[in-house]
Amino acid sequence: MKILITGADGQLAMEFQRYLEKADCYQATALNKEKLDISDLNAVSEAILHSKPDIVLNCAAYNQVDKAEDDCNAAFKVNAAGIKNLAFSCKKNDALLVHYSTDYVFDGTKEDFYTEDDVPNPINNYGKSKLAGERFLIEGTDNFLLFRVSWVFGHGKQNFLYKLTELARKDNKLKIVCDQVSVPTYTGDIVMITMLAIEKRIRGLYHLTNSGYASRYEVARYYFEKLKLCNLLLPVTSNHFPMTAKRPYFSAMSNTKISEAVHQRIPDWKDAIDRFVSGAQKRLNPETSSGHVLKV
Ligand SMILES: NC(=O)c1ccc[n+]([C@@H]2O[C@H](COP(=O)([O-])OP(=O)(O)OC[C@H]3O[C@@H](n4cnc5c(N)ncnc54)[C@H](OP(=O)(O)O)[C@@H]3O)[C@@H](O)[C@H]2O)c1
Repeated sequence: MKILITGADGQLAMEFQRYLEKADCYQATALNKEKLDISDLNAVSEAILHSKPDIVLNCAAYNQVDKAEDDCNAAFKVNAAGIKNLAFSCKKNDALLVHYSTDYVFDGTKEDFYTEDDVPNPINNYGKSKLAGERFLIEGTDNFLLFRVSWVFGHGKQNFLYKLTELARKDNKLKIVCDQVSVPTYTGDIVMITMLAIEKRIRGLYHLTNSGYASRYEVARYYFEKLKLCNLLLPVTSNHFPMTAKRPYFSAMSNTKISEAVHQRIPDWKDAIDRFVSGAQKRLNPETSSGHVLKV
């Protein structure tokens, strides 16, 4: 099976590359933004025609939620037009397109877990651009897997845990919002479930998150305890930090549909953070990793 990965320098794409390096039955090519800009239709057509993939894993995205408020066009160019280009070229070349969207397509007012049957209503430009991408995907091809993921973390910089460790270096007292709730989701688990879904020839829209839910404040408390960091964490409401983009209050999604489809229970977010921290410790200090504290 030939796989083409887009957005190769991002955190999810890097996790796929680590996984596929060890998998015998897949031959993967990974292209970063410089090698393949998904908003360029000619470049996308040429790349797919040239590498003739069976599967395209689209990990490319414009993820800067606040910046998208001021530069809506930039977000739509990648997150909407980019997906239209990929769907068109994948259909033409008979390739499966695997794409990732977000919990930010929901407004967060449901007061329960969002399921695949709920109607999206994004409250910021990032969410609107990702929803437009979903629609282009569904209109453009039947041969797709569309996963909505939330609060993605892995070995990269575009995530909450990385930002927390950066803040912890600078300040002993951190204020963290307690009125944004969703599900932190580990790139390692996204890769595992995606590959199972591919192997089982599943198609369609699924919510792919770790299990459970938490506020940003709860995530920070758990992560800092794991790292044995002593910073004082103070819970505050979102209006404490005037952000350019509005965020949903409770955008946690149910992973029941995908979990049943692949016959796999998806681990809790705390378990995922445990594995992420111990993986990072092993990478930093392979000889003496067990029981040691990750230096941040
Ligand atoms: N991170 C999250 O918390 C989160 C939450 C919900 C959903 N998601 C979705 O999950 C998926 C994976 O996200 P991630 O966390 O791995 O994101 P990431 O780390 O930000 O990676 C995205 C990659 O896409 C690249 N890119 C941007 N514009 C591009 C273009 N026009 N053509 C090709 N590549 C381009 C980025 O390059 P530059 O950095 O150089 O621009 C970056 O390397 C995305 O669809 C994202 O929207 C993520």
